[in-house]
Parts: sequence; C-alpha cells; structure tokens
Amino acid sequence: MAVYVGIWALLLALNIQAGSGQMVQMDTSKSGFVGSQVELRCVFSNSNPPVKISQVTWQKLLNGTKQNVAIANPALGVSVLPPFKERVSFKHAAVRHRTPSLEDTTIVFSNLQLSDEAAYICEYTTFPAGNRENMVNLTVYARPMTRMTLTTPTIVARAQKRKMTVATCVSANGKPPSVIKWDTRLKGEATYQETRNQNGTVTVRSNYVVIPSRETHKQKLTCIVTYRNEKITDSVVLNVQYEPEVQIEGFDGNWYLNRQNVQLTCRADANPPVTIYQWKLLNGSLPSNVEIKNNTLFFKGPVTYDLAGTYVCDATNGIGTRTGIVDVNITEKPMAQGPPGGVIGILGGVVAIGLIIGVAVTVVMVHRRQQKTRTETDNDLTDLPPAHKPAPPPPKKKNSDMKGHLTSDDIQNSGHKDCDVQYAELDTAALASSPSPRSSAHTGPGDLVEYATIQPSSH
Ligand SMILES: *[C@@H]1O[C@H](CO)[C@@H](O)[C@H](O)[C@H]1NC(C)=O
Ligand SMILES: *[C@@H]1O[C@H](CO)[C@@H](O)[C@H](O)[C@H]1NC(C)=O
Ligand SMILES: *[C@@H]1O[C@H](CO)[C@@H](O)[C@H](O)[C@H]1NC(C)=O
Ligand SMILES: *[C@@H]1O[C@H](CO)[C@@H](O)[C@H](O)[C@H]1NC(C)=O
Ligand SMILES: *[C@@H]1O[C@H](CO)[C@@H](O)[C@H](O)[C@H]1NC(C)=O
Ligand SMILES: *[C@@H]1O[C@H](CO)[C@@H](O)[C@H](O)[C@H]1NC(C)=O
Repeated sequence: MAVYVGIWALLLALNIQAGSGQMVQMDTSKSGFVGSQVELRCVFSNSNPPVKISQVTWQKLLNGTKQNVAIANPALGVSVLPPFKERVSFKHAAVRHRTPSLEDTTIVFSNLQLSDEAAYICEYTTFPAGNRENMVNLTVYARPMTRMTLTTPTIVARAQKRKMTVATCVSANGKPPSVIKWDTRLKGEATYQETRNQNGTVTVRSNYVVIPSRETHKQKLTCIVTYRNEKITDSVVLNVQYEPEVQIEGFDGNWYLNRQNVQLTCRADANPPVTIYQWKLLNGSLPSNVEIKNNTLFFKGPVTYDLAGTYVCDATNGIGTRTGIVDVNITEKPMAQGPPGGVIGILGGVVAIGLIIGVAVTVVMVHRRQQKTRTETDNDLTDLPPAHKPAPPPPKKKNSDMKGHLTSDDIQNSGHKDCDVQYAELDTAALASSPSPRSSAHTGPGDLVEYATIQPSSH
C-alpha cells in the first residue's frame, strides 16, 4: 500500500512539475551510419484537458549553440531550413495538412553525415501551458576501410639482420576507431598508430616488424581488425628471399682405399633457388677423375689418397653466395670399429627404453611407498582429492624454440656419432685461392665456423 501511495505521490509531483500532464516523448539516443537514414521520434502526449499547440520547433544543439532544423506551425505550415532541407522531413503527412495534427512530429533524417552528430531538441510551444521540450542524442558511425598490404611483394633477408616492416594493416576513417591485432607464429612485434581526422573519424594503422630470415619464409601473418562487434581478418604469406644455406653431403668419414663410387653433393636451401654451384679443392685443383653434374661431384673409379683435401662448394642465388666445406681424408682400411651405425642406433634405442622403464618403475615404487606411509601416518586425512597426483613432466621443448641455425636435419643427424663432419661458412676472402668480391654478402668473422653433422648420402 505504501508503495502505491509513493508512486502516486511521485506521479503527482512529476505532473505538477510538467504542468498538467503534457510531455514530449523522445528516445534518449539514436545512432546510424554515414549515408543511412534515421528517425528521430517526437510525440506530444496531450492529456486532459488538452492544450493548444502553437508551434513545434526542432533544433540542433552543438557546442552549446542552437540551430533551427524544422518548424511546424498550424497557421503558417511546415518549414525545413537549410542546410537540412534536402535531408530532413516530417514522418507523418498529417503534420503538413491544412489543419495539421501536430501530436507526432517525428522527423526522418536521410543520408546521415558525420556533422549531423549532435543533440536534437524537439520543443512544443503550447497555450496556455507554455513550452515543453525534450532531447535526443544522435551519434553517427562511419564504417572504416580496412586493408592489409605487404610492404614489398618479396622481402630480402639480409646478413645484417635488420628489423623491417613486412606488412601493414590499416583501418581508415572509422568511427568509432577499430582495434587491430595480429595473429601469427612469427616472432615479431607490432607498432600501432592512430590518426584523428577533422571529421571525427580515426585511422588506425599497425605495422608488423620482423627480422626477415629463412625461418620467416612462407609464414602466415593474419591481421584481425575489430570494428564495433565486427571482425575483419586478412592474411598474407611472407615470401622471404635468402642466401643459400649450404651443406656438403656424402662424406661419411669412411673413405678407404679402393672404395668405389663415392660422391659429394652440395645441398643448398635457398630462395630463389641456387643457380650456380662451384666446386673447388682448397689448396689444389680437383682430382682428374672427378665429374661434376649439377651440384654433385662424382669420383670415378676407386678411392686413392689423391682425393684427400678440403672440398669447397660455393652456391649462388640472386641474393648471394654461401660456402660449404668438408674435409675429406682417406684411410687405408675400412673403419673396423664395432658394429655399423644402424646396429648402434638399435642398441642405443634398447638401452634408452630400458632406462625409461627403469626410471618409470622407480617413480611408481617411490610414489607407492610415499602413499603408503601417508595413509599409515595420517589416517584421518585420507580424503585427499584425487587431483593430488604428481605433476606431469614438463612438455618437451620444440625444435622451433632452439636458437640459431639448428634445423630438424641437424637434430636428426646428431644421432650418427660415427660420421661427424665439420663444415664451415667461410668468408671467401679467407680462401687464398679465390679473390672474388663476394665476401661482402657473408657473415662476419665472429660467426665464421659452424659445426654440423652430415649424414651419409641418403637423399
Ligand atoms: C547527450 O549528450 C550530451 C552531451 O554530449 C550529454 O551531456 C548528455 O548526457 C547526453 N544525453 C543522453 C541522454 O545520453
Ligand atoms: C565545437 O567545439 C569544438 C571544440 O571545442 C570545436 O573544435 C568545434 O569546431 C566546435 N563545433 C562547432 C560546430 O562549433
Ligand atoms: C573523414 O575525413 C577523412 C580524411 O579527411 C576522409 O578521408 C573521409 O572520407 C571522411 N569521412 C567521411 C564519412 O566523410
Ligand atoms: C696450402 O698448402 C701449403 C703448402 O702446400 C701450406 O703451406 C698452406 O698452409 C696451405 N694453406 C691452407 C689454407 O691450408
Ligand atoms: C641437373 O638438375 C636438373 C634439375 O634438377 C635436371 O633436370 C638435370 O637432368 C640435371 N643434370 C644433370 C647433368 O644431372
Ligand atoms: C679424418 O676426418 C675425421 C673427421 O673430420 C677425423 O675425425 C679423423 O681424425 C680424420 N682422420 C685422419 C687420419 O686425419
């Protein structure tokens, strides 16, 4: 009961404040996109006793200044003022009648423009009740133009390892502003920039910056633009050009006298592909029985001591030249130490499995024992949740986490302990026999030598 009395009292108070029940009903806010059409509602509730409407005025309120938009007058008719004349009209024809009905003076705004964003006042001049007015806030949105571009169609990985912008995502002239995010497995960073235009729209721009390298080639880069609750995504795949990454395959550390059909192959990973392979023997000329086909050196006939030496392969593509080297030495007899690698591998596997099982059994035993002691000592605390298991072992580190130039091949090969071969990326200037100017494309003396294992030619 008290609630009803309260509400009644409130209504009464409102009535007194609003005169005798007349009020202007409007939405509190409205919004629309540039170019669209929006209705601004204005309804006069003319309760008993009805009052006489002398005029209805629509006004735009911006920065504290009022500007007339439209006027409806029972005697003088209807007038929409410039600059709204072409785009604003009263929704109901009855407003324009000779004896107009001015209860609903809703207006229709067409072809919205950013400059239409403002508060709009609908004011009723009545007799004898005086003026009644209300207000609607109109917000105008502008849909942005979104696009993603690669900085250049092809990106070149330089030896200096400089960061560079590889892609740009722009969401231009949006209101409200978009939010840009990136999705990629590339290890790079993004820069963001917002520019506010005079008309209230905002251009958001983001650059994706990486150090181009062999590893970034063919990586996918996705730009995710969020505008209000829309998501726009766009992807590119990077095309990174890089110098050859060279390895010489074929020397298994077991080149003995009279062995037949040995060969060395220069393998290079390069983008664009290698166009020239050049073989040479450090400190000498290639043996006479050698035949070069593409990237392979075929040694005709049986192995002799003459084949020993340091073999160098220069691989060249459009980006540069890199060198692979292998030290070939010749033994008198085949290596007679123990079983061949395959058997070692199998043995190693067996030992490893044995070890793993051993460790697992130990862990289980220890765990059992601990549980036992626990149940014996804390008999009252046996309601431990089942989640109290030992934490799982940490996940294995992925290859991609490893720094530098370890490739899956390297990791795979490191099992073959019996055929380790050293090779180096030489600065060609260091090679007395070749005074070519290619050295500028090479890494500095600090990274001169790298070690890798080379498989017996199995490709
Ligand atoms: C309308 O906008 C004005 C100024 O921007 C603000 O002060 C007012 O609170 C807004 N009214 C409503 C109902 O949103
Ligand atoms: C409104 O005020 C802002 C800042 O005070 C000004 O930049 C803008 O030009 C004004 N707009 C109008 C229509 O006067
Ligand atoms: C807002 O201004 C920007 C820059 O001047 C312009 O490119 C864009 O078309 C404008 N947007 C609208 C909706 O007028
Ligand atoms: C090349 O061979 C000569 C002797 O034949 C030797 O003095 C020199 O150290 C060798 N150079 C290299 C780089 O092995
Ligand atoms: C060289 O390589 C190309 C393409 O891999 C192949 O078509 C060609 O037969 C090779 N030439 C020789 C002499 O092996
Ligand atoms: C032959 O080369 C291998 C690998 O470089 C090395 O381990 C071995 O000691 C060399 N043998 C001789 C006789 O120089």
